[in-house]
Amino acid sequence: MVTLFIVGGGRGVGRGLVQACLDRYPSVRLYVATRQPMTFSETCSPYQTIVPIVWDPEDPASYGAMVDTIRQDQQPLNQAIITVGALHSSNFSPEKTIRRLTAAQMAWSFQVNTIYPSLLIAAIAPIMTSVEPSCLAVLSARVGSITDNQLGGWYSYRAAKAALNMVIKTAAIEYSRTVPSLTLLGIHPGTVDTDLSKPFQKNSHHTLFTPVESANHILDVMRDRLGESGGVFDWKGERVPA
Ligand SMILES: NC(=O)c1ccc[n+]([C@@H]2O[C@H](COP(=O)([O-])OP(=O)(O)OC[C@H]3O[C@@H](n4cnc5c(N)ncnc54)[C@H](OP(=O)(O)O)[C@@H]3O)[C@@H](O)[C@H]2O)c1
Repeated sequence: MVTLFIVGGGRGVGRGLVQACLDRYPSVRLYVATRQPMTFSETCSPYQTIVPIVWDPEDPASYGAMVDTIRQDQQPLNQAIITVGALHSSNFSPEKTIRRLTAAQMAWSFQVNTIYPSLLIAAIAPIMTSVEPSCLAVLSARVGSITDNQLGGWYSYRAAKAALNMVIKTAAIEYSRTVPSLTLLGIHPGTVDTDLSKPFQKNSHHTLFTPVESANHILDVMRDRLGESGGVFDWKGERVPA
């Protein structure tokens, strides 16, 4: 049986991951964390279980409580995927010029795109200690690549994803010593038809993936890049430069 944990699985790419995992794994136990309580209407076979978990990213105790739910089941966790991230909100849209930069937007973006995912890595990795290889993937973005930045703009989001990539690399070095069976990856999912990309889709020249298509790319990259801990890869499995 595959045991998999998705943090941020209520909508967008995360919800696509729920469906893709049910399609892919005949026998699976899926832990799905969301900020609001959710019921999942996806069809499960008798060998497939979805365990909803509610978490509060602002409550430090919530991170430990979340992993305790999984630890208590005494099932080795094979894979975990952190989808948490945001580009815009009712208060903020990505800055086209540095003149629009505000402390409030930058702090918000770092909180959602860097700090919460980093705290989640710290909470989840220690329960992925089974002798089998395990993989923890964090959804990042190509715009977090300093080398690849051709267009400029989107200051807070770019900077927050670049910082996330640094945390992934640094934690991968540490876990190579303490949890050597774990691969920690950053993954750029491509452009996916979700709330996050909606306002920007008409100006994009990239293929627009459905959340389930994107989820399958992510699961493929996790399989194909096992052992390449610390790297950031795009949906095709190609390395995104730092
Ligand atoms: N869509 C794209 O084209 C695209 C491209 C590149 C990278 N990405 C990355 O892929 C990931 C998933 O994005 P998506 O397209 O699925 O976006 P989405 O549909 O907006 O979903 C974003 C996810 O992040 C969580 N989240 C948002 N704000 C949060 C907050 N303040 N605190 C805690 N959790 C929060 C949401 O949880 P709730 O449901 O609880 O709000 C949701 O699970 C993100 O990290 C994004 O940066 C997406």
